[in-house]
Amino acid sequence: MFWAPYGAYWRQARKLWHTELLSERLLKLHEHVRREEDTISAGTDTSAVTIEWTLSELLKNPVALTMATEELDRVVGRDRLPTEGDRLPYLQAVIKESMRMHPATPLLSPWRCRRDAVVGSYSIPAGTCVAVNVWAIGRDPSVWEEPNDF
Ligand code: HEM
Repeated sequence: MFWAPYGAYWRQARKLWHTELLSERLLKLHEHVRREEDTISAGTDTSAVTIEWTLSELLKNPVALTMATEELDRVVGRDRLPTEGDRLPYLQAVIKESMRMHPATPLLSPWRCRRDAVVGSYSIPAGTCVAVNVWAIGRDPSVWEEPNDF
């Protein structure tokens, strides 16, 4: 639609867009679908990206890979899948370190400040749209020793 030459066709498409696709009635009707889609997209890409980063960091760190594999072999063995009840502190630390360096949502979702607030030395007026830079927090050299190393 965006590339159609401006004219009767374009005007008709725009009218359909407003009266049908984005009509209040249809938006309300499909609200439950959008809610489910939110949960699906929030839970799939985040998990996939985190696993991908963790595996690539492990491939670059043979010592960590060996220790994680040794822990899995010792606690879980090779005859079953791990469960949430298995105690795997080394693997948990590996995943936390991966999420520190490669957060799946580096700026989180935008939030709106409901009332005037002060965070550290910053005054944030009510109504401000706030983006939390999780990536920068995870790489802050005043908090982490060698923040760019896994
Ligand atoms: C490694 C995996 C995941 C990561 C890194 C992750 C990360 C996050 C983060 C950082 C937020 C908060 C965003 C914010 O406060 O601005 C969030 C919210 C949310 N996540 Fe995840 N998530 C993961 C897995 C999942 C899974 C598996 C599901 C669902 C099955 C899920 C569903 C949600 C939902 C519904 C919210 C919004 C909660 C709300 O608005 O209060 N997430 N996630």
